[in-house]
Amino acid sequence: MSKNFYVTTPIYYVNDKPHIGHAYTTILADVLNRFYQINGYDTFFLTGLDEHGQKVQEAAKKKNIEPLEQCDEMVPQFKNLWEKLHISNNDFIRTTEPRHVSVVQDILTKVFNKEDIYKDEYEGLYSVSEERFITEKEAETGNFRDIKKIKEKNYFFRMSKYQNKLIKYIESNPNFIQPEHRKNEIIGFLDKPLNDLCISRPKSRLSWGIELPFDKEYVTYVWFDALINYLTGIGFKKDKKLFEKYWPASYQLIGKDILTTHAIYWPTMLMSLGIELPKTIFAHGWWLISESKMSKSIGNVIDPMELINEHGADPVRYYLMREMVLGQDSNFTVESFKNRYNSDLANDFGNLLSRVSTLMKKNFEGKIPLPNKMTKMEKEIQLKSKNLIENVRGKVKNMRINEAIEDIMQFIRGINKYVEVSAPWKMVKVDKENAGTVLFTAGEALRISALLLEPIMPNRTSELLAAFDAKGTSLNWGGLVPGTILKDHDPLFPRLK
Ligand code: MSP
Repeated sequence: MSKNFYVTTPIYYVNDKPHIGHAYTTILADVLNRFYQINGYDTFFLTGLDEHGQKVQEAAKKKNIEPLEQCDEMVPQFKNLWEKLHISNNDFIRTTEPRHVSVVQDILTKVFNKEDIYKDEYEGLYSVSEERFITEKEAETGNFRDIKKIKEKNYFFRMSKYQNKLIKYIESNPNFIQPEHRKNEIIGFLDKPLNDLCISRPKSRLSWGIELPFDKEYVTYVWFDALINYLTGIGFKKDKKLFEKYWPASYQLIGKDILTTHAIYWPTMLMSLGIELPKTIFAHGWWLISESKMSKSIGNVIDPMELINEHGADPVRYYLMREMVLGQDSNFTVESFKNRYNSDLANDFGNLLSRVSTLMKKNFEGKIPLPNKMTKMEKEIQLKSKNLIENVRGKVKNMRINEAIEDIMQFIRGINKYVEVSAPWKMVKVDKENAGTVLFTAGEALRISALLLEPIMPNRTSELLAAFDAKGTSLNWGGLVPGTILKDHDPLFPRLK
């Protein structure tokens, strides 16, 4: 049986260029995609842009350009960033593409014909910033900007009809909403009666959207349009084979700010369509700057491009994956970035490589030495590496990526200690064979660590593996070939000041 894996990121609004929060979700998806691929899964990774709606229309208006021009201007900002970050997405969807517009309209027609969409007059508070109707209670919280009282005729999706079915589904599928505390939040929300969802906007108020196929005076509510991208992106209605191969999605990654839309709107839409629900909606926390959320409107955003230009993609990927406990918020500071870089990457990982290769060059003609008899220490290392591989696999599968990384780093620190204690630079003078065993063992440990870190840092690990001519080797102990000439390489992680 082939194992398939489908991971998605939210599609990002194009009102502004991407910041580190957007980069985070995309890197996380990339790490999972690479990890599952390496572990024998047939994978598909989708990301893209959410191009309709009020936010984009307003951003265009400010610049005095057409909304589509605004979108076209933003596309390279995202695409270049993903390229720089070595994001391995299979497709990049834009919601203005004809392939998507036609799927949205087909779906609207289907749901309308099923009488799950009806027209009604509605009077209520509307938050322009959130682009949705809000309750009096919500308005009182002060979390919503630009609130207007609006009375208008609109189309509604019978979300309430699926409330009980959704509750039952969540209860019988404990992995559907993760982490646990987010699931509880949704269960709590579903305790109260669910309103139907307004899925139209009269063109007089908002014109930038997908026209309703059954009423030309309206466009589709941006979220009803955007969520459907996850189906369009794998060929829904176009490529049955592709769609059936990858749906239901394995992981739909989101930030906690868009939990309700993904854990309530989205599954009820799928229920109306008779489509299976994704296996897991996973909500991560926020990157904070001095304890407050990074956001375009506050103006405290970190530009990932600047960080990458200064330090390269891999250290940025490493820092984001190592620092955040999935599900919780994390503070981003340049200082902690530098500390993490120096302690883990320069002092532990990079240093081990330069020690090993320097000693091989100096004492073994630049070749990987032949290991002699393993002592207790080497046997222990071999066993540790075996356990490490199992632990890392288990932890990534449980979305404990930061812990998996820490395990690898701990292993590397242990090897540094082993090299120190064994002192092969002294040993070589009296017992060259055993000094060779120590260097071979440390080299093996580096090779295995690099393979395990590949999904996190695909570039630097690939340099390391190339230096040992060990690209494409397996995780089994003994992948280094004695006698192989070490290739020259730049220091992997030069220390930062
Ligand atoms: N367009 C919608 C999503 C539609 S999905 C069908 C949207 N876009 S967004 O541009 O505002 O960004 C969405 C996602 O970016 C968040 O859910 C989250 O994944 C990520 N982040 C944005 N700011 C973030 C932080 N400060 N920290 C971490 N992630 C954040 O919402």
